[in-house]
Amino acid sequence: MATTLPALTPTEDSLFLTLCCRALDNRSPHPVLGDAMADEIVRTLDYDHRRLHIDTNLMLNAALRAKKLDEIATRFLARHPDGVGLDLGAGLDTRVLRIDPPSTVDWYDVDTPAVIAARAGLVPDRAHAHGIGADVTDPDWLTAVPSNRPAVIVADGLLGFLTLDQVVALLNRLTSHFPSGEIAFNSYPRFAIWAIKHTRGTRSVADLIRFPGSDDPHDPERWNPALTLVREILIPREPEVAQFPAALRTYYRLAAHSTSWSRKGTVVLHYRF
Ligand SMILES: C[S@@+](CC[C@H](N)C(=O)[O-])C[C@H]1O[C@@H](n2cnc3c(N)ncnc32)[C@H](O)[C@@H]1O
Repeated sequence: MATTLPALTPTEDSLFLTLCCRALDNRSPHPVLGDAMADEIVRTLDYDHRRLHIDTNLMLNAALRAKKLDEIATRFLARHPDGVGLDLGAGLDTRVLRIDPPSTVDWYDVDTPAVIAARAGLVPDRAHAHGIGADVTDPDWLTAVPSNRPAVIVADGLLGFLTLDQVVALLNRLTSHFPSGEIAFNSYPRFAIWAIKHTRGTRSVADLIRFPGSDDPHDPERWNPALTLVREILIPREPEVAQFPAALRTYYRLAAHSTSWSRKGTVVLHYRF
């Protein structure tokens, strides 16, 4: 029998969009992420992904940005086995299972209390993996996380739900809390904000987006001088595009010639502090 979740708010419910993208990617002939656990969770919940109208482009972008964030976290924790990892707005993502960090790493999935409670019956337990049920804009939740270890912090699909002031305050709290670390998130260029509001597949979150959009990968360095840009990852220029279906592959290979055109797709921004 399918597991039923308690009622979630529309913002919490957005976790199904990214979860279903990863599940559908796993069911595709050539997955870019291959997240079997996402697929299993969607099946356990008997969630009907068709209501979200996810197209191939959205599915591939969500799966590939998750993979890029996984790679950043994996590399950091291999270099810092004494470190901590945080996934902000984790939803029902099982990133820590995908990246499988050294057993010395403590991992924190942060989302609202309702979402963290929902994870309990769906996401397998793992030693040193912790859930924090909190609003990330609340200044107090970080007290549950050690402040004397290097940290890698990822946020996949979160920042669009926050105002610019909330994003800046969150970045400041993170860089003040840890001695050093890296932060990576999918960014929201102005075109992406427009596209979310005008694309069928993202209609479910269109009215929830509060971030105004930012086109310059150096903006976060201005918001928080502790941050230094490591890399702006433009999806059209990533090698996995070779696995995309022919029409999308052709489009992205053309887009890859232009930075401004590439920024119209998914962008992952990676900083150190
Ligand atoms: C689009 S979903 C992405 C979930 C997950 N990162 C993934 O890739 O599947 C956005 C998530 O951010 C969470 N979220 C939004 N605003 C939040 C806030 N202020 N505090 C904590 N979580 C928040 C939602 O509950 C939801 O789980």
